[in-house]
Amino acid sequence: MSDLTGKTVVVTGGNSGIGAAIVDAAAAAGANVVIDYVAHPEIAGQMEQQLDAAAGHNEALAVDADVSRVADLQKLCDAAVTEFGRVDVWVNNAGIETRQSVLDTPEADFDRVIAINLKSAFFGTQIAARQFIAQGGPGVVINVTSVHEDWPMPGNSAYAVSKGGMRMLTRNAACELGPKGIRVVGLGPGAVATPINQGTLDDPAKMRSLDAAIPLGRMAQPDEIAKAAVFLASDDAAYMTATTLFVDGGIMMGSLGL
Ligand code: BGC
Repeated sequence: MSDLTGKTVVVTGGNSGIGAAIVDAAAAAGANVVIDYVAHPEIAGQMEQQLDAAAGHNEALAVDADVSRVADLQKLCDAAVTEFGRVDVWVNNAGIETRQSVLDTPEADFDRVIAINLKSAFFGTQIAARQFIAQGGPGVVINVTSVHEDWPMPGNSAYAVSKGGMRMLTRNAACELGPKGIRVVGLGPGAVATPINQGTLDDPAKMRSLDAAIPLGRMAQPDEIAKAAVFLASDDAAYMTATTLFVDGGIMMGSLGL
């Protein structure tokens, strides 16, 4: 795996699903990790303790911050700097979905999805980039999107719109920040065994048709996405910016089953 020794990695939504896997993988790669959370403080606290107790010179910090609020994002960044002196990698991972169509989505649900998925990523990128510049050094922003940053997901419209927005955030911010040595990349998972997919995981018929639509024949495990995040965060990906790395088992190219 790529090396993140000496780097500080902040992960929004870091105590659940793909975010928790990225925290673990980044710590295993040698990074100090900042675990943002908004629910289940006990899980964030447990992760912090276990990672601190694990071998290695790196440390973990759990921070309670609601990423849909810019003031909380700033608090998250400040906590990382106070604890570790700097931020090197910022992972915009927190996300929700409501599984509603354009016809069915109420205003409040649309606003919530956009605030948690897209607004948080926009201002997370802004705050991280300002910190990188203040440190006088390079930095990496990783936007955890989805195959649905590009591929429509009928019945989950606000979510797909938010991920499409993150795709353009990645490209736009990468163009603006590249000259300052800051890379902005997307990481696009397909179907992953995380709480966001609990409804599918609990339904054998849905699982069968999902598996049949994926060329590799199965959902991903969160650590399979996290390994790609560590690569993108590291100097091994030094020439990657303004693009998305899809880790999807081929789902976007999947067959119609004909
Ligand atoms: C969504 C899942 C979906 C997967 C593949 C993800 O972004 O969160 O609900 O199963 O994409 O379509």
